[in-house]
Amino acid sequence: TKPLRIGIAGLGTVGVGVVQIVRKQAALLRARTGRDIQITAVSARDAGKDRGVNIATYDWEDDPVTLARRDDVDVFVELMGGPDGPAKAATEAALDAGKDVVTANKAMLAMHGQALAERAEAQGRVIRYEAAVAGGIPVIKALTEGLAANEITRVMGVMNGTCNYILTRMENAGLPYETVFQEARDLGFLEADPTLDVGGIDAAHKLALLSSIAFGTRPDFDGIEIEGIERIAIEDIRAAADMGYRIKLLGVARRTGRGLEQRTQPCLVPASSPLGQLEGGTNMVVIEGDAVEQIVLRGPGAGMGPTASAVMADVCDLARGVRITTFGQPANTLADAPAAVAGVP
Ligand code: HSE
Repeated sequence: TKPLRIGIAGLGTVGVGVVQIVRKQAALLRARTGRDIQITAVSARDAGKDRGVNIATYDWEDDPVTLARRDDVDVFVELMGGPDGPAKAATEAALDAGKDVVTANKAMLAMHGQALAERAEAQGRVIRYEAAVAGGIPVIKALTEGLAANEITRVMGVMNGTCNYILTRMENAGLPYETVFQEARDLGFLEADPTLDVGGIDAAHKLALLSSIAFGTRPDFDGIEIEGIERIAIEDIRAAADMGYRIKLLGVARRTGRGLEQRTQPCLVPASSPLGQLEGGTNMVVIEGDAVEQIVLRGPGAGMGPTASAVMADVCDLARGVRITTFGQPANTLADAPAAVAGVP
């Protein structure tokens, strides 16, 4: 069998993590997928930077669009980030050139996922994004494969590790929001634009993707009611604790009598529940289905190894010929197919 050849655009933390796995685990990846996985070319903003990993054996491209179109690239791995700009241009170029795409880009998919998936479908290609939601937790695989026979009734969880870090640190150390926010910034936890984290937007991007998969609808970021954690004071956290609760920034999507409801907001959860016990920068996703009842998935939502693990899970699926698509089916919209959600009038 022929090797699967990947091109990687973006060599930040996650890109370097992917390069490391491909190098270190070549034999394991071959054993698991039946094929060699090879990196043929890479691109990033800064060619000269020392990344602590040898990329000299790969072709260098200055322009990610050129990389995406290369004949010796079967799968385009987009790890640049950002909802528009070069990430979107290169993803579109890859799909139009007949490549499958693997991306960790939650913002791009929350805004343009449906259009990109339709573009992929028109070419008989797929766009995969396990790494875009809850980092190392294989939650998309759980929904699309492990829970394939379930009607999902609710999906919810802590999908932004930074907010969970801030809230638990405020509580455990008795520190005010501003102090812990600064700490999180110094630790490098915050997105370049911290409002994405503390404003609940990053969690909402992820919720839009998860609920589209869970309920068979288009990703509907604009339909999410969003509130962040900026206004949570230490007094609120103490008052909650006195009653046996903790405050968590939850993304919640559920079927209601009036259709799909999606919210990202600070919620009171019982301190003794799995969500209530979640500490630090960890993520947790709770999925409820009619047959399985409830499952709880917990793990690292960010970081080099965990996010690269999820990217490579998608690459391995493509190497094996597993080509499950999530959104992108033409009838897959709440408006076009209201029967997809129970109880919609
Ligand atoms: N800023 C995100 C978080 C990174 O804190 O969860 C992972 O998507």
